[in-house]
Amino acid sequence: MSERVPVTTTDAGIPAPSDQFSQSVGPNGPLLLQDHYLIQKMAQFNRERVPERVVHAKGGGAYGFLEITEDVSQYTKADLFQKGRRTDLLLRFSTVAGELGSADTARDPRGFALKFYTEQGNYDIVGNNTPIFFIRDPSKFADFIHSQKRRADNHLRDNNMQWDFWTLQPESAHQVSFLMTDRGTPRSWRHMHGFGSHTFMWYNAAGEKFWVKYHFKTEQGVQNFTALEAKELEAQDPDHHIRDLFTAIKGGDHPSWTVNVQIMPFEDAADYRFNPFDLTKVWPHEDYPEITIGRFTLNRNPESYFAEIEQSAFEPANLVPGIAASPDKMLQGRLFSYPDAHRYRVGTNYLQLPVNQPKSPVHSYNRDGAMRYHNPGDPVYAPNTAAGPAADPALFAGEDYRVTGEIVRSAYQLHKEDDDFGQPRALWEKVLSDTDREHMVANIVGHASAPEVTGDMHKRVVEYWTNVHPDLGAGVARGLGLG
Ligand code: NDP
Ligand code: HEM
Repeated sequence: MSERVPVTTTDAGIPAPSDQFSQSVGPNGPLLLQDHYLIQKMAQFNRERVPERVVHAKGGGAYGFLEITEDVSQYTKADLFQKGRRTDLLLRFSTVAGELGSADTARDPRGFALKFYTEQGNYDIVGNNTPIFFIRDPSKFADFIHSQKRRADNHLRDNNMQWDFWTLQPESAHQVSFLMTDRGTPRSWRHMHGFGSHTFMWYNAAGEKFWVKYHFKTEQGVQNFTALEAKELEAQDPDHHIRDLFTAIKGGDHPSWTVNVQIMPFEDAADYRFNPFDLTKVWPHEDYPEITIGRFTLNRNPESYFAEIEQSAFEPANLVPGIAASPDKMLQGRLFSYPDAHRYRVGTNYLQLPVNQPKSPVHSYNRDGAMRYHNPGDPVYAPNTAAGPAADPALFAGEDYRVTGEIVRSAYQLHKEDDDFGQPRALWEKVLSDTDREHMVANIVGHASAPEVTGDMHKRVVEYWTNVHPDLGAGVARGLGLG
């Protein structure tokens, strides 16, 4: 051997006796329990997997940076959004319903999860490539996801089950409309927009409050696959999107997104024509135009997919001073759900892994637990007289607002123009081209033509789309042989 390579070791750093042979009694004899190296190798291998994410299991991601180019200090005091600020970030893309090895080009929303390593701790925007969602109450989330995953008996995906859920929940119509256009099969993660989707609160240094929606507009341009192209790639290259992103960044082609926001004055929310916190609705641009505040770029691939992407942990509850939650019920549910998932999937001290660690100092009284290695010293409690860390409520001055009401289980109160079909109808009527509409009809018909979808279900599917627009319903009926 011309060049010296490092000596293999055990995980305890002890030089390994062999990369090839286990220890046996004679060349043909049984193996020995004392071969600690072999036992460590086999035992460690059995523990290589953490559970896959219960949703958004298949994905990929990269690092980059956010640059703020405009002054929005009149809306938020968040440090990362001050003009001229540059903040490092991680972005993980994903499909929702498939498992870890599933095909990247499946028809599905795409996850668009951002972690900003700000000077005031991690700020996570855990969004999708659509501005809306299928449901508006978190109590429906597990049932919705079950309907998109696998049956109990044969463990197969089942389009009948999907249409059963969607047609019983008409609030899904807007998101299913997006999904059935060619934006349901993006050409790559680089060629799609991202959205924070929820409404969040911003507040400025004077304590004035605003409602805000995030739009991340791809600077590569939106490009999609047709249903046929996407289907072919499912077979030819199931990892197409991971490969595309990694290869582009490795080759110096760094994708970027313009960061836009829509801003609603706090007081407008009460009698806006749509419920501004309903996740199945957008804010039409004529009411609240998008304002550009900056852009972000992805410029660095992970070195270890497992350590940096599989174990990355995003949480909508990571909000920094200047930004707060809104009363969107879905957002409220998600504030609980993600850290709970991480404690189970990655472990109690998931925030100590390098990818999840804030880059700003941590002075917390939380301590101990499995695998912890940064542990705070004394004092171990607050308040104390030992010069331990003390909270600064002034940082959050401005996020408070008044709410009163009876405790109920109820749908949102309707605003003037709230209904489930008006906004998807606007998409069909105002936004889609003739080709988009043709493809949308064909995509719906293709999906509903799976052999397991029943004749009764076809009738419900036609009714659902007729409610969005009679022409769309008629096109779907013709395609399903009912027209
Ligand atoms: P506008 O005409 O002002 O905006 C239409 C929006 O649709 C733009 O953001 C456009 O941005 C996006 N768009 C264009 N082509 C498609 C497509 N094939 N699929 C999905 N989105 C597309 O109208 P309004 O603001 O009044 O909204 C009308 C409808 O547009 C809404 O009911 C909603 O369905 C859809 N929409 C609205 C958004 C909003 O935040 N207001 C955001 C996205 C969609 P781009 O081409 O860059 O994607
Ligand atoms: C992942 C729950 C709605 C976007 C997840 C995970 C859970 C979850 C448990 C797995 C987390 C992990 O193991 O790391 C929920 C619940 C919802 C909800 C309970 C509704 C009540 C949404 C919505 C969006 C969204 C509305 C987008 C607007 C994502 C994304 C991921 C994810 C992008 C993957 C994050 C990553 O890349 O690690 N969700 N979710 N979810 N969810 Fe949701």
